[in-house]
Amino acid sequence: MNNKTEQHWPADAAEHVRLAQERFPGSNYLEWLIWLHQAVKPKSYVEIGVESGKSLQFAQSFTKAIGIDPAFQVIYSQEAWVKLFKMPSDDFFIQYDLKEVLGEKSVDLAFIDGLHTFDQTLKDFINIEHYSNSKTIVAIHDTFPVIPITASRERKTGFWLGDTWKIVLILKKFRPDLKIATLPTFPSGLTLVTGLNRKSDLLFDKLEMILAQWMEVELEPYMADLEAHLNAVENDYLTISKLLKLK
Ligand SMILES: C[S@@+](CC[C@H](N)C(=O)[O-])C[C@H]1O[C@@H](n2cnc3c(N)ncnc32)[C@H](O)[C@@H]1O
Repeated sequence: MNNKTEQHWPADAAEHVRLAQERFPGSNYLEWLIWLHQAVKPKSYVEIGVESGKSLQFAQSFTKAIGIDPAFQVIYSQEAWVKLFKMPSDDFFIQYDLKEVLGEKSVDLAFIDGLHTFDQTLKDFINIEHYSNSKTIVAIHDTFPVIPITASRERKTGFWLGDTWKIVLILKKFRPDLKIATLPTFPSGLTLVTGLNRKSDLLFDKLEMILAQWMEVELEPYMADLEAHLNAVENDYLTISKLLKLK
């Protein structure tokens, strides 16, 4: 790890870090974001959940980037053309037209790393898809739990994924037209979604039903075969290049 991808953890996260390092060898999620920016060369990038700007810093100078977070405190210098919005993502999408804010027709790359609940992540995905094109890539963080308690809906641990993992199962079930692959990458997985359709309103129309159906679903029954449920792939650049059809 170089100093741009070095991470600091809450004191009670030691056990999670140890197990996740064993389970997820290879590139971590920040190294994957660097790679995605370099391989995809997005003209437009949206990041939901900015915090210190550590992940946002990887957007390159030719990219127009938008960061949305109600409580960001950016300490990393940014290379890209960046506009920051200090508000929850739902408020942003109610108040702004992303195309106008970006000055672009659509979003090429998005990183969803805001509030770690499946319902918020699903709403963020629906909002991003509304501005997608046929090649848009959405990366969703915190989808691969290693210790179940870190994946509980209510935060009980310093290191917390929430129930974000449910988004993968929901998208697989309700949108079989999407291509979904989860990278087993330290510390908590990264799911890549492609094949978006800006005209699809299926998720929006079924939102209330999906939230009611999935709110009480527990992780436990899925743990034994989690890789298969999450469409886990190799943590490997060649695999993902082929999957994303990048040269
Ligand atoms: C894990 S941090 C993001 C880390 C950052 N992406 C990185 O990798 O360096 C999650 C952030 O999401 C923000 N957040 C929480 N609820 C949000 C919401 N509804 N919309 C957007 N951001 C939200 C929090 O304020 C927090 O800064």
